[in-house]
Amino acid sequence: MTEAVKKTLAASHRAAIDGIVMLENKNGALPLRNGESAAVFGRSQIDYNAGGTGSGGLVNTEYQTDILSSLEKSDVEVNRTLAAFYRDWVSKNPVSTDGGTCSSRPLSQKEPQIDEELMKKVSAESETAIVVIGRSAGEEHDSVNAPGGFLLTEDETELLKAARGHFKKLIVLLNVPSVIDMGFVGEIGPDAVLYIWQGGQEGGAAAAEALCRASPSGRLTDTIALSYADYPSSEGFDAKDRIYYNEDIFVGYRYFETFCPEKVLYPFGFGLSYTDFEISCRAAVFAEQNISLTVDVKNIGAAPGREIVQIYAEPPKSKMPRPKRSLVEFAKTKTLAPGETQTLRIKFPLSRLKYYDDKNSEQRIDGGEYKLIIGKNIRDKSCSVRMKLSKDIIKKRGRLAAPKEPFRRLIGFDGGPIYEDAPTAQGGKSGAAGGKTKRKAFSGIARPRKYKFEDVKSGGITLDEFVDAVSDKDLACLCRGEGMGSKLVRPGTGAAFGGVSKGLQKLGIPCAAATDGPSGLRFDNGDKAALAPIGTMLACTWDIELIEEIYSCIGGEMIENDIDMLLGPGLNIHRNPLCGRNFEYYSEDPYISGAAAAAALRGLESRGVCGTLKHIAANNREEGRKGLDTVLSERALREIYLRPLEYAMELSEPKAIMTAYNGLNGEMCGSNYELITEIIRGEFGFSGMVMTDWWAFLGPCSASSTKNSAAMLRAGGDIYMVTKNSEKNSGGDNTLKELKSGNLSSDELRRAAKNILKLIINIVIRD
Ligand code: BGC
Repeated sequence: MTEAVKKTLAASHRAAIDGIVMLENKNGALPLRNGESAAVFGRSQIDYNAGGTGSGGLVNTEYQTDILSSLEKSDVEVNRTLAAFYRDWVSKNPVSTDGGTCSSRPLSQKEPQIDEELMKKVSAESETAIVVIGRSAGEEHDSVNAPGGFLLTEDETELLKAARGHFKKLIVLLNVPSVIDMGFVGEIGPDAVLYIWQGGQEGGAAAAEALCRASPSGRLTDTIALSYADYPSSEGFDAKDRIYYNEDIFVGYRYFETFCPEKVLYPFGFGLSYTDFEISCRAAVFAEQNISLTVDVKNIGAAPGREIVQIYAEPPKSKMPRPKRSLVEFAKTKTLAPGETQTLRIKFPLSRLKYYDDKNSEQRIDGGEYKLIIGKNIRDKSCSVRMKLSKDIIKKRGRLAAPKEPFRRLIGFDGGPIYEDAPTAQGGKSGAAGGKTKRKAFSGIARPRKYKFEDVKSGGITLDEFVDAVSDKDLACLCRGEGMGSKLVRPGTGAAFGGVSKGLQKLGIPCAAATDGPSGLRFDNGDKAALAPIGTMLACTWDIELIEEIYSCIGGEMIENDIDMLLGPGLNIHRNPLCGRNFEYYSEDPYISGAAAAAALRGLESRGVCGTLKHIAANNREEGRKGLDTVLSERALREIYLRPLEYAMELSEPKAIMTAYNGLNGEMCGSNYELITEIIRGEFGFSGMVMTDWWAFLGPCSASSTKNSAAMLRAGGDIYMVTKNSEKNSGGDNTLKELKSGNLSSDELRRAAKNILKLIINIVIRD
């Protein structure tokens, strides 16, 4: 193991403790006492689920910690009879790796039957039962609202009931990628329940440590509802070719806290600790652009621990329906000893209060009175302050990427849900690729090659001058990434890009290497790297510095491995608990998603490499993802689904974006002009490289193809990922054909080339 890997694992270990969310801890059931005798049930105590499946979790590791052997090394007396039983059973019933296309595991694994005799024996030997429930999900593998997926299996429920009946103390550990149904808590009444998530290589050891002493300090980044049907996106989540986001901006707590708080089992931001804290606001200053708060946090319990101060804003009444409150900032304390106080100085910009009026195409912060609630979770009101804004702050925007046809969106509740038609694209046109840039006909004249790429870096010539001297054929090659496993770069990576043709190489353009992400480095040739906790768990730490540190360590591994770009972090919104890739993403809330993604980017950039924000936008279901047309209002797009990207741009300097596989209001994301050029580049000011997802379909959803690279280039996308051989155009893309026919301008091609080269100058020819 290299030093870089060790560093990532050391930081990951801390995150795998600090991201644990403890939801129940009756009568101080935890931490376990020294010498307490515990019987551990569930195969995941050995076959620990370290990460999600598919590209985001495919990291080859040197070792994997598990819960059972980690507990055996602790001061707890682990029941030997049961440990021997599980070890024997697991060795005879290996983990199934038959999870489908992209997935190395099914959603759940077969569990052994624990007969009454064994249950009696181990409960006579031990006072405490720990039951580990395991789940998996991932790319191209959504969970299901059925036993073994979102719901417990009958066997799991029976095991919990039997353990409840036989043991004095019952502790449930959820080794899962995303929230699951929590009905069992009311039904069975365990003493302690902890989401231990999927904590990467160090997850097993970290879980054991948290059970024994280290206080969990994670807080939920998703609301847990009473049942699946209570999530507003549950209706129609499995729709075939087109999915409607009828709940509009009311995703997660924005829905529950506004319309039906009674349907919440555990609110957003909730989590317990082995101690308790008192939060008080000492001072609040409202300046023109910023809000500053001084908050004291005191550990008033008997154990050391960390608390998270969460700040929610309640807006004044407005013309548009608004969520009751939304997260605007947060801060985490250091570990506070009993009796210790820490003063946190928290400052955030007024822009956190903005929302989008898609009827009048206005980005708005309404004048009026706002209430800022400072507490431990979205429901806790430790303290609050009021602030007045004297006038509306309005920015006019264009109507962009709006739905083509009206569809109903949620605006309120009055006995039942109230809907209205979402505003549609003006003139019925939306998200079409291009049509707005001036086309220059193809000249057909080969340009002289007199420059070297180094001259651009040294300032001898401009990037424009350099690109002008590159032939159209080479420019077309430049706009194709090669992969997977291209021989032009380090073996086993996701893509090579840059100097992918002989012509480009002659000009001195080096090749950059990109690989997955986000949870660690993926090498398909079997090389090893560190596997960090899943994105959701990282976000549940609410520890921005720790996330930054982990990615700075991953950056160190990238340098050791000649990798220039990580294909991550993922910042899609947790719209529905069944989405297979929720594990890669952070939260149902745009702010914590964007803040966590920005931290990851800053960490990588601190080492001179870069990350990729993916998947833009609204990639919220895996099933049928490549052809799926996502229909949502412009307001939901801007206020929820693109907001993490906007936050990431506010808090870091993203250099690359990966568009999503799905369509957005009729046009595939990778060729969506209004999305890429008008909103992301035009309004948000993104000036980096935009790549497609791997073998993405491009063009209108009704007639999309992997060959329509010209649609991507016209839309403002820069590079198509990936083809086997760029020089031979093995993917058969239409870049040169469309250039020749005048449907693609040479300006569009050169713009893309410049964006790619700008990135290469930054990350490959780094000082
Ligand atoms: C995923 C991307 C990933 C890429 C390369 C795609 O299937 O959607 O997130 O980066 O593959 O592995």
